[in-house]
Amino acid sequence: MSDRKAYIKGTGHFAPEQTLTNADLEKMVDTSDEWITSRTGISQRHIAPDDMANSDMSCEAGKRALEDAGWAPEDVQAVILGTVTPDYSFPNTAALVADKLGVGKVPCYDFEAGCSGFIYGLIQAKAFIESGMLERVLVIGAEKLSSLVNWEDRNTCVLFGDGAGAACVGSEGPGGLLGGIHWGADGSLGYLLELPASGSRMPVSHEALDKKLNTIHMSGGEVMKNAVRAMRDSALKSLAEEGLTYEDVNLLISHQANVRIIESTARVLRLKWEDVYVNIDRYGNTSSASIPIALDEALHNGTIKPGYVVVLAAFGAGLTWGGMVVRWSDE
Ligand code: ACO
Repeated sequence: MSDRKAYIKGTGHFAPEQTLTNADLEKMVDTSDEWITSRTGISQRHIAPDDMANSDMSCEAGKRALEDAGWAPEDVQAVILGTVTPDYSFPNTAALVADKLGVGKVPCYDFEAGCSGFIYGLIQAKAFIESGMLERVLVIGAEKLSSLVNWEDRNTCVLFGDGAGAACVGSEGPGGLLGGIHWGADGSLGYLLELPASGSRMPVSHEALDKKLNTIHMSGGEVMKNAVRAMRDSALKSLAEEGLTYEDVNLLISHQANVRIIESTARVLRLKWEDVYVNIDRYGNTSSASIPIALDEALHNGTIKPGYVVVLAAFGAGLTWGGMVVRWSDE
């Protein structure tokens, strides 16, 4: 390892214009605004039109992050994209985004870590930069979850939304210094949250389509229990790696899956509610896009101030989890 450090230099996000409100969902399935708001904290979610794919949203978020960082497309040395909803199984979406953005012919790849995707991406970018291998990496988390939702299943269709977020990670400060991390996965719990058909285990077939096995299947309560534990551990272990405790945290940005999960996580971390960023009411669960969308908002609406210690925490399908401490420069 060299003594180089990695910094977030700029961020951007994109959400499709069209929104689906709880009132709209009341007309589609047996649900109510009262149930959705009180059980999840969600009021609306953004839904991409049929002709908008992951790469279109990623491109827009990436362009905004490049502008924010003051980078030209050709400055980017790698594009890495966490998603469960790529444009295609192949070619990879990151390469399509790089081409549309005018980035050179640099390494590009997608990876799949569910809702932990963006933190997994930041950790990879940090490793590339600290090792001296690369100097400027574009990290994207983007999803078109509306394409995987069973719109007749009230247990899941009220939860998810579409969007993209991106961060330029570079080797020179100032910016958000990428600090302590913790990440992991437990495949023995993978069955709690899965898309049964469309991979090599169960290729798409007429039978699979009839049974809607190409849509999200989830044991919500079990996922919820694991989520709080995973995010608490991820936050505390990343803070410990940095020699910090919950008392040093100025802001928690956790994955936005359910406001009750965020409340429980904040409680076990002994954080004040005003030190927790919440935007699930407007976006729903956008999986790997949720943390970069929230981070971009918090940076541009003045929530994150110079000198802030921000802790990121996520969990998702896999099950996967991840945490990271980001320290903003004092200027
Ligand atoms: N409207 C009205 N009633 C509903 C709805 C709805 N939209 N959805 C479920 N219900 C009903 C259920 O049918 C059940 O009724 P029953 O008691 O008659 O059977 C009742 O409400 C309670 O259901 P629970 O599942 O116990 O409700 P819970 O409080 O657990 O909330 C929820 C469900 C919101 C799904 C919650 O468990 C949750 O958020 N889990 C975590 C989900 C998550 O974080 N997923 C993240 C990963 S996404 C990814 O990685 C791609």
